Amino acid sequence: MPRLPIVLDVDTGVDDACALLLAALHPDLDLRAVSCVGGNAPLDDVVRNTLRVLETAGRGDVPVGVGARRPLLEDPVDARHVHGSDGMADLGMPVPTLTPDPRSALDLLRDVVEDAAAAGEPVTVVPLAPMTNLALFARVHPDAFARIGRLVFMGGGAQISNATAAAEFNVFHDPEAAAIVLDACATHGVEVAMYGLDVFYDPLVTDADVEGLRALGTPVADLAAGLISYHHRRFANAGATIGDAGAVAMLLLPDAVTTERLPVRVELTGSWTRGRTVVDTRDWSGHLDHDPHGLAPAQVHVALAIDGPRVAELWLRTVRGEVG
Ligand code: RIB
Ligand code: CA
Repeated sequence: MPRLPIVLDVDTGVDDACALLLAALHPDLDLRAVSCVGGNAPLDDVVRNTLRVLETAGRGDVPVGVGARRPLLEDPVDARHVHGSDGMADLGMPVPTLTPDPRSALDLLRDVVEDAAAAGEPVTVVPLAPMTNLALFARVHPDAFARIGRLVFMGGGAQISNATAAAEFNVFHDPEAAAIVLDACATHGVEVAMYGLDVFYDPLVTDADVEGLRALGTPVADLAAGLISYHHRRFANAGATIGDAGAVAMLLLPDAVTTERLPVRVELTGSWTRGRTVVDTRDWSGHLDHDPHGLAPAQVHVALAIDGPRVAELWLRTVRGEVG
């Protein structure tokens, strides 16, 4: 199986770190670059955390681009109450020796997407954060955006929310960005999939899994154990989701995730619904003459079900070093 060229856009964060480990270490993935955006934590912490994870994974070859410090319109609101004061489980990791790429995230994305397209290997872009960088990328480098092979984003939810009663954190943090990205995918014909909250919480890692990781004693297994055990303690439950890592796993185990191609809009104006991903699950094979809104232009492969244990096991085998 040829290695899949991918780029991650992250707000590292505990589960972004889990996703970075899978992306950096699985032999069937070719991680070409990572772009950083403010979200779970302020941008500077996100960059430092991202470099720490790549250094631990021995992937200092992967360029890291510094992107947007805050959303397009919304004031920045972080999630350090979930991810720790440093944004990544407060593990006391050393300052990374790696440094970011000198290019901005937008120029790095442009170069990586263009190079991959020119080589006949269009890159899969995996946003795991507020999509501010990708929205700016669509506006500043539209021709390059059009050459993205596929976009698989963690965000939104058809039936489930977390940041508010209506919205998921990444989309709620920058609703305009999410709307711009879905519009750009529709405009440029970029296939887009949504790994939303409907599946996000299903791939779980247990306390016993964590003890097994600690027993290995490798830097990667120790980091993975620290990330998961932080969430066990934070949420006082026996199983912690690998979160964003599930969106990366979806690339490797497509048959483990049930998707349906559905119209999706982002609510931008509702007092209580701003940031909601409005997933149209109606049977619209009939006429819609009386629907003033009509079908959303964005047709998105929405993940509606997942084999959580199988996805969690893929992540565990990868961070244990058992794959490849
Ligand atoms: O709602 C979950 C998303 O918000 C994940 O990407 C997590 O890292 C946070 O950014
Ligand atoms: Ca994230």
